Amino acid sequence: MTLHQITAGLDGVTAATTALSHVDGEGGELIIAGSRVAQLAEETDFEGVAARLLTAAGKATNADELRQVLGEARVRAFARLDAILPATEGLALGAGFRAAIAAIDKEEGIADEIALLGAMPVLAAALARRAEGLAPVAPDAKLGQAADLLRMLRGAPGSAAEAAALDAYLTTVSDHGMNASTFAARVVASTQADLFMAITAGYCALSGPLHGGAPAPVLDMLEAIGTAGNIAPWIDAALARGERLMGFGHRIYKVRDPRADVLKRAVGTLGSEGMDLGLAAEVEAYAREALAIAKPGRRLDTNVEFYTAILLGALKIPREAFTPVFAVGRTAGWVAHALEQQRTGRLLRPASVYTGPMPA
Ligand code: ACO
Repeated sequence: MTLHQITAGLDGVTAATTALSHVDGEGGELIIAGSRVAQLAEETDFEGVAARLLTAAGKATNADELRQVLGEARVRAFARLDAILPATEGLALGAGFRAAIAAIDKEEGIADEIALLGAMPVLAAALARRAEGLAPVAPDAKLGQAADLLRMLRGAPGSAAEAAALDAYLTTVSDHGMNASTFAARVVASTQADLFMAITAGYCALSGPLHGGAPAPVLDMLEAIGTAGNIAPWIDAALARGERLMGFGHRIYKVRDPRADVLKRAVGTLGSEGMDLGLAAEVEAYAREALAIAKPGRRLDTNVEFYTAILLGALKIPREAFTPVFAVGRTAGWVAHALEQQRTGRLLRPASVYTGPMPA
């Protein structure tokens, strides 16, 4: 009988080489397309990082060129909304976004990766507005993805500081090694399925609370805690019930997620209107201590989703739209990884061990 080494969560399994990003879980470092994440948010914007990722995946471009083609791609996506939105009728926002992505397809005269990147903010904004009974707002092709996403969500431009904060967010979450949604996109791409198939899979994997579905529950937690005096009893009770604290813990990071500080800084540029940042910081500090006591040796620290929730909440983005907005940023990484995987030509196909009955 063959002995099999099974790693249920694929922890520590290396499935690809990539030129796109590197996560150092012990050092608390994230490198995206050659720059540390903190530096990246200072030195470039979403179009800049997306251009670097696409170039590294074999689709050479630059930030200015990408800004222009993504503006045009948003306009094209908006023109197709009437054909796409019926597929989302009656679905909640997150499920509607899944159906909307699945309804995008190849179009004459536009590269698949550009069509996808341009469609994401248009779909996220249109569905978020529909959930509030509002009509979609047409894109402004002259703006960058972040400023236009905010404008399409609200029906009016955000301030320069708000657009910059959302841009820092989209840049920060653009890619992150072999995370679950990127792996899902790469598995689909490895079958030589097209980018539309791969990115739909990426979003589906992102949606769960153990991955990109965590930020809305972080805000629910902060709201439920409510006051400084309630922090300890609320967190202690949640941990005693065996619940997970959303926004904490990570498969790879055993120290603080470096994206948390980038996003915390971005929140700081906004002022504190509508968000009690002091309370959030106290919750974070207590949660880290409580987790160290409740789960000794597990090294659970703040992950990207804690300050994602606070940042997107401060931008008044409806919480049901948090995961679709995450997808707007992460699509840059997904398409680049899918292209990289397709180029290897190698099908991703692991094995399993049969534990069912054997034939008589
Ligand atoms: N709160 C309480 N306990 C936790 C948490 C948490 N946030 N995270 C892990 N643990 C516990 C587990 O219950 C487990 O305890 P046990 O050994 O007593 O059974 C131990 O720590 C190890 O957990 P694992 O599940 O093995 O860790 P894994 O690497 O699979 O988990 C994950 C990573 C899924 C992110 C986890 O930390 C978690 O569920 N966090 C909360 C959800 C969250 O914040 N998701 C967003 C992640 S960031 C992103 O994907 C963009």
